[in-house]
Amino acid sequence: MTAPATPHELVVVLDFGAQYVQLIVRRVREQHVYCETRPHDMPVPDLLALKPKAIILSGGPASVCEPGAPTLDPALLASGVPILGICYGHQLMARLLGGAVEPGTTREYGHARIHIEVGEGDGLFAGIAPDQACWMSHGDRVAGLPPGFRALAVSADGIIAAMGAPERKLYGVQFHPEVSHTPFGPKLLCNFLYSIGGCAGDWESASFIDETVAAIRATVGDGKVLCTLSGGVDSAVVAALAVRAVDSRATCMFVDHGLLRLGEPEQVKRTFGEMLGSSFVAVDAQERFLTALQGVTDPEEKRRVVGETFIRVFEDESAKLGQFQFITHGTLYPDVIESGGGATARIKSHHNVEGLPDDMKHTNVEPLRSLFKDEVRQIAVQLGMPESIAYRQPFPGPGFAVRVTGEVTPEKLDIAKRADAVVREEIEAAGLGRTVAQYFAALPDVRTVGVMGDGRTYGYPIVVRAVTTDDFMTADWARLPEEVLSRIATRIVNEVRGVSRVLYDITTKPPGTIEWE
Ligand code: XMP
Repeated sequence: MTAPATPHELVVVLDFGAQYVQLIVRRVREQHVYCETRPHDMPVPDLLALKPKAIILSGGPASVCEPGAPTLDPALLASGVPILGICYGHQLMARLLGGAVEPGTTREYGHARIHIEVGEGDGLFAGIAPDQACWMSHGDRVAGLPPGFRALAVSADGIIAAMGAPERKLYGVQFHPEVSHTPFGPKLLCNFLYSIGGCAGDWESASFIDETVAAIRATVGDGKVLCTLSGGVDSAVVAALAVRAVDSRATCMFVDHGLLRLGEPEQVKRTFGEMLGSSFVAVDAQERFLTALQGVTDPEEKRRVVGETFIRVFEDESAKLGQFQFITHGTLYPDVIESGGGATARIKSHHNVEGLPDDMKHTNVEPLRSLFKDEVRQIAVQLGMPESIAYRQPFPGPGFAVRVTGEVTPEKLDIAKRADAVVREEIEAAGLGRTVAQYFAALPDVRTVGVMGDGRTYGYPIVVRAVTTDDFMTADWARLPEEVLSRIATRIVNEVRGVSRVLYDITTKPPGTIEWE
């Protein structure tokens, strides 16, 4: 990975494979300090070349007691950079510095109480009352402190919940300050970043807008930019930034791939036509995408096909408009990490990162690569976008191609989209549109028997998926009121021909994913 092009103070989270790595990054940014993740085995000289103000060692699923467990070059612990180890990071720090870590026989998981042993004066726990609730998830534990460390907090069952060597600016906590079940977590992170790490807090979305506009201007020079618009908030923000940066040398193109929600292409054309005027162009490529998807059943292959077809359409259409040297993309930080940008395992490739063909003729401009969704939404509001765009629920780039399993046919697409429209209407009518993070209909490639009137039917099932989540990395199924579910089911079987039954997906993520493919 390359050094970040950030003029801001940087805090690095070293990734030991925890599911919470991104959450730690977000929590740091919420304290107005720019933060990125790096692999745990990044060479120390490369890491120090980034000039981090502080480093956080993440948790992870391994045990430091096992041979081959992910480790760290101990030179980092002697570098003088303030370091906070969380869970696995805490245990690893203890072990590398001569403390004792005992393997646990059972995993402690959930709420815990801790007693803080140090007074208000201590940096990490300054301003935090002595008895606190927190959240722990661990098997191993630190049984003996490394020389020069002292226990800063102890849990109700006597384990070392926090340790520190303040003169060396090294700290470890067994609990997770990044999760909401640790109410004093933000205060502890604030203490670490500001009192111990000496950060000044220079990360604000307003400065992001000015810096990004300047960066796009510098990259693009006298060239022309083609902005890809999906109708979602990410690509809209990118387009607005590009138009702000290079004005009429940016053209914003919306490609209707036929995989959007019912009524959406029309709405996108209206909104962006008004917002962007003559910089906006719409292309109808439905036939081309459907043809490219014929016979494709594998989910990853669908993503690749959609990604590649997008680029080919843009190339053909842009050729009609003149030469463009740059294409923008609304790629976000979670896309980069989930596509293998960090140490965490690859789950599925996102079409706007991995699905792109190698022989692309344009240079990609991805100004949101370092941002999380909620940061993009704030920027959209600051750019003056309507709420309907700023807070639009996420929609996968490959659209209904990954919500219709098996081959994507016009018939299955039509059924899924019409059922989806019912799901959206009912959830929004019940006033749940902002509390449920994502909701849609998916169509599995099976058929089941039903009965309607006096006759037997043989149609597709529709799966209703509605989830609550903050970060889309983990999600819970939404507890929709029974009457809402009932109305959805009744309306779909009555109004959408070809559907024989309606199912509600009650799987959390993990182990499921939000999308069906
Ligand atoms: P999963 O299904 O991985 O989805 O739990 C997490 C979030 O990512 C969205 N998603 C995608 N977005 N291209 C995208 O732009 C994709 O290929 C893609 N796949 C999933 C999904 O809608 C959810 O918000």
